[in-house]
Amino acid sequence: MLSQNEQKELVGKGSIDALVEKGLIFSGMKLGLGTGSTAMHAVKRVAELISNGTLKDIKVASTSFQTTIACENFGIPVYSLNSPQLNGELDLAIDGADEVAPSGNVIKGGGAALLNEKIVAYNAKKYVIITDESKVVSGLGTKFPLPVEIIDGARVSVVKKLEALGAKCTIREGVRKCGPVITDNGNQIVDCLWQNDVDPEKMEDELNKIVGVVENGFFTKNKPIVFVAHADGKLESRGL
Ligand code: A5P
Repeated sequence: MLSQNEQKELVGKGSIDALVEKGLIFSGMKLGLGTGSTAMHAVKRVAELISNGTLKDIKVASTSFQTTIACENFGIPVYSLNSPQLNGELDLAIDGADEVAPSGNVIKGGGAALLNEKIVAYNAKKYVIITDESKVVSGLGTKFPLPVEIIDGARVSVVKKLEALGAKCTIREGVRKCGPVITDNGNQIVDCLWQNDVDPEKMEDELNKIVGVVENGFFTKNKPIVFVAHADGKLESRGL
């Protein structure tokens, strides 16, 4: 049986190979690369395919400092989404997730990178989620708390409004850093555990109407191809 880390490796490498075989990852393309331990395996595989000559002239948009640093270490060229090379759009983006529902709706932001992840995801013609089987759930947000990125000056007012919507809120604390986690964009994260099932498609829009919310971790607007690695070594794809 594969451990969770082995499943992450399987899905990271296997998804890239399958997407290359299907012609969805190709030389010259504009590619968004995600954040987190699963996505790092995909980044590594892209680097291998660049260095063995399978992929040429790939233009990458990164979703975090973590991903940019990995790309720099692997020699993968990274461009701003605003650059003339990317011109605000991508052929495909690939990323991990924290929870994946059968509808293809997901929760992201366990690594606090949801804002840049969503900008990349929603500006990609095709979106791909890669996950181990532990993250596949029937309903989102009652087990894994939904990350909401907020502006510090609105912390108290935003938390009151989130609680009124039914969330149990925790300001995410840093590890080996006193006080709150500060995101790549200088904001803070409120983790929201929903007491009852919520409609992620409605809630994604509802939460972003609260003044002081920058973005939330429901991703419902660009339905992904989903790859799931299983403990028995099987790599499942949905929507490929
Ligand atoms: C980063 O903010 C997240 O959205 C990650 O993609 C997500 O938390 C999955 O992370 P792992 O692949 O490390 O489990």
